[in-house]
Amino acid sequence: MKPMEIKEGIYWLGVIDWNVRDFHGYSTYQGTTYNSFLIMDEKITLIDTAKKEFTDELLYNISQIVDPKKIDYVISNHTEMDHSGGLPRVMHKIGEDKPLYCSKMGQKNLSKHFPQKWNYQPVENGGELSLGKRTLTFLETRMVHWPDSMFTYANEDRILFSSDGFGQHYAGLERFDDQVGDAIMPHAKKYFANILLLYAPLILKLVEKVTEMGLPIDMICPDHGIFWRKDPSKIINAYVEWSAQKPKRKAVVVYDTMWHSTEAMGEAIINALGEEGVDARLMHLRNCHRSDVMTEVLDAGAIIIGSPTLNNGIFPTVSDFLTYMKGLKPLNKIGAAFGSFGWSGEAAKLVTKELEQMKFDIIDPGVRIQYVPDDKSLDACRELAKKIADALPAE
Ligand code: FEO
Repeated sequence: MKPMEIKEGIYWLGVIDWNVRDFHGYSTYQGTTYNSFLIMDEKITLIDTAKKEFTDELLYNISQIVDPKKIDYVISNHTEMDHSGGLPRVMHKIGEDKPLYCSKMGQKNLSKHFPQKWNYQPVENGGELSLGKRTLTFLETRMVHWPDSMFTYANEDRILFSSDGFGQHYAGLERFDDQVGDAIMPHAKKYFANILLLYAPLILKLVEKVTEMGLPIDMICPDHGIFWRKDPSKIINAYVEWSAQKPKRKAVVVYDTMWHSTEAMGEAIINALGEEGVDARLMHLRNCHRSDVMTEVLDAGAIIIGSPTLNNGIFPTVSDFLTYMKGLKPLNKIGAAFGSFGWSGEAAKLVTKELEQMKFDIIDPGVRIQYVPDDKSLDACRELAKKIADALPAE
């Protein structure tokens, strides 16, 4: 897509990945963008590149604005290859000796990705770079999303180039929050739940730090998705809320099933939760992607996991989800397990152990039913739902 001037002299470079549907295990039903920016000042500056496959498009788009050889400075806010994959060819084109600004960790990490001996200019938190009419300030934002991550703030333009922070995997012709409206928030929430959740405590501190600095922000430009210009505080406030992980009166019942017995248990639980006024979701792991389940987990107070016993263990899709959720370290959750079995019945116990390791508040040892549940045996599932409803906040 053509580059677009988003503020006088500042261009978005137009790389849209319409077709990506799996982003390292995260479902991206609406594709994504790899946002990079060109600042036309006395020192022409490129902020970030794109995934390697999009380098031709990126270079072509730059050439629509200026001869790439005229770029003076390159800034790498984050090493992950969706933003740095294009660096080798971009640096080759514009000049291998051009200064490359990044955090100290950025220099280390880029060096471990690329053998080139580029002219690294590591910057400190709060360090400044004059481009002529403009000055940029660098803010270290470790673990948002990697140890090398930083934000770049354009002082005079009041734009925060926030790398992965405040991003969304969303490909569209719209560029700004006011063009998409509230429909963008589920994408931002999914991004937070699946990419940033495990760093939630750091994000809270970061937001506090930026608030204390009192930086006026007219626009937040992440490296994925749309830019926040109508009300940047909306996404900042959402990050504060998501990071706090205050549990809602909401439960997610996640399961897989072999002969519909565990499914029948899940249905009994969800119906009973509904009767208790709990906002509940029933999610079958072969119909719901793990990243969609995780998005629902973000603000749920209870996570109830059902697995049949297969070969004395947990059903594979359930193990997959448990591994994924464990890595994202959700906080403040009530947990419980359930599942049908034939003769040994380990799954519910093993799931409970996993949830204990995740520091969930286990309020029941787990409901296990042999073979096919009848209406009477499903009462145990209804009782579990009642316990969970009683333990959730009232709201
Ligand atoms: Fe969009 Fe952590 O990379």
